[in-house]
Amino acid sequence: MLEVQDLHTFYGESHVLQGVSLSVAPSQCVALLGRNGAGKTTTLRSILGLTPARRGEVTFKGEVITRKPTHQIVRLGVSYVPEDRGIFATVTVEEHLAMARGASRGRPARKDIGYVFEVFPRLAERRHSLGGQLSGGEQQMLAIGRALIAGPDLLVLDEPSEGLAPVIIEKLEEVLLAVKRMGVPILIVEQNYHLATRLADYVYVLSQGSVKFAGATEALTRDENIRRTYLSV
Ligand SMILES: Nc1ncnc2c1ncn2[C@@H]1O[C@H](COP(=O)(O)OP(=O)(O)OP(=O)(O)O)[C@@H](O)[C@H]1O
Ligand SMILES: [Mg+2]
Repeated sequence: MLEVQDLHTFYGESHVLQGVSLSVAPSQCVALLGRNGAGKTTTLRSILGLTPARRGEVTFKGEVITRKPTHQIVRLGVSYVPEDRGIFATVTVEEHLAMARGASRGRPARKDIGYVFEVFPRLAERRHSLGGQLSGGEQQMLAIGRALIAGPDLLVLDEPSEGLAPVIIEKLEEVLLAVKRMGVPILIVEQNYHLATRLADYVYVLSQGSVKFAGATEALTRDENIRRTYLSV
């Protein structure tokens, strides 16, 4: 589904990703873990073409996407929920979803706005509210709802639980498990180790721009050394 081979990414002179490789198989949920500054967001940004890698290759559904512009990668079926959620303060919930639906024209799996309201009934209640009037949890639901409307072939999430109350994180977990059951592969960056390991089938641990551990989730939960050294859990 997604193959990332030996990515090297720079910010100016700073060599941030030093040969990151990972893969996401169909229907799989893969978590990317690591401390602050490890290179998790940069890995996602390189996959999406937002901070293109200088070396290495990204393949999605058999097609090389390394040098493609972001809008083409999205059109191919990668939906990205960035760390800052990207909600517009002066645009309503319904308008956000309508824009996303318009942008995904031509995608065979494209969903209706009603579908998002079924997944997140709270958003239906707040359909006429402006982005800036939503709580953090509601904004996150909107960001994920907007990503789902395209009917993605891969859902990429950067720290979706950040800033959310425990009860909203439980709701988020249910939603992501439902997405997984629908067979949509997920690549998730998450600081919440317990959430990540409940969702993920496979885990990569990053430190200083390279992969220090790759294995099934159970292998990580058994590997106290890796957890202590790179995750402090
Ligand atoms: N726009 C930028 N310009 C320069 N350096 C950057 C930029 N963005 C990130 N970096 C640096 O690149 C490294 C990796 O950052 P990245 O944001 O990928 O880490 P992260 O694993 O997502 O961390 P966090 O958990 O804090 O979100 C860090 O050392 C960071 O300071
Ligand atoms: Mg980050």
